[in-house]
Amino acid sequence: MKDLPVNQIVCGRAEDVLKEMPTSSVDLVFGSPPYEDARLYNMDFKLKGQAWVDWMVPIIKECVRVCKGLVAFVVEGRTRQFQWSATPVLLMADLHRAGITLRKPPAYHRIGIPGSGGPDWLRNDYEFIICCTNGGKLPWSDNTAMGQPCKYEPGGAMSYRTQDGYRRNKRTGVRLHRKRRCSGEMEEQAYNPPKKANPGNILTCKVGGGNMGSKLAHENEAPFAEQVVEFFIKSFCPPDGITLDPFSGSGTTLAVAEKFGRRWMGIDIRESQVELSKKRIKEQK
Ligand SMILES: C[S@@+](CC[C@H](N)C(=O)[O-])C[C@H]1O[C@@H](n2cnc3c(N)ncnc32)[C@H](O)[C@@H]1O
Repeated sequence: MKDLPVNQIVCGRAEDVLKEMPTSSVDLVFGSPPYEDARLYNMDFKLKGQAWVDWMVPIIKECVRVCKGLVAFVVEGRTRQFQWSATPVLLMADLHRAGITLRKPPAYHRIGIPGSGGPDWLRNDYEFIICCTNGGKLPWSDNTAMGQPCKYEPGGAMSYRTQDGYRRNKRTGVRLHRKRRCSGEMEEQAYNPPKKANPGNILTCKVGGGNMGSKLAHENEAPFAEQVVEFFIKSFCPPDGITLDPFSGSGTTLAVAEKFGRRWMGIDIRESQVELSKKRIKEQK
């Protein structure tokens, strides 16, 4: 692949297409692979347990190679006969052992899931979002992009923790916090609260009941909500950046990237899904 097919969807196997892509050519990878044999996708996809993990590790390694920033995948295992397959954590363990840098996985918390979780267990409300990088600080992030303005202004009731805790600037009333200098002395600094609070790592999204963002999403067997993609794109893809989804399905990631002015690239093994995502992007434009 000489030039990156920007704003295009490639029909092919992610494991083959990724190998052809230039190193550090995209800014964010976001997607969700088939979850073991949960759905066969009309192509008899049956990898499960360690075989599924062994399939995913080289794909994620390639994603880390082609991506300058964050590589994030929403994943889930299977529960059968009262046992969870644990594949998300097995995958994280194998990626860690393979030398890939992991960031703590946020939870994709889905509101509106009617499933029961089984006769003796709890309803499954969240899925892991496995996050990997090349190591070090992310080249670009806006970790308060999805945050809310702080609830409380600095100030409020006087703190009595004056010995080791906080004091106030006598003139402005701004809270001071203490920082130890190299010399060991304590230095007091003004506390400037951020404009928006960090939203945290539990991403609560409405799903089902017309909340996925587009009716076309339901033509894929396992779409995720536009809301979860918006979170990652606004937080981890720079405004002029490119987001890649190697399992693009109905094109949720691509449509959201388009919506928020990012460039994008999709890969899906099925022609039906490539056509579906083209329709989805058209709808978005
Ligand atoms: C969980 S779905 C993705 C759904 C997508 N996030 C959405 O919102 O519509 C997984 C997709 O991976 C595709 N797929 C399965 N194996 C693949 C492979 N080896 N390479 C690329 N795509 C594959 C399937 O066709 C399916 O559309």
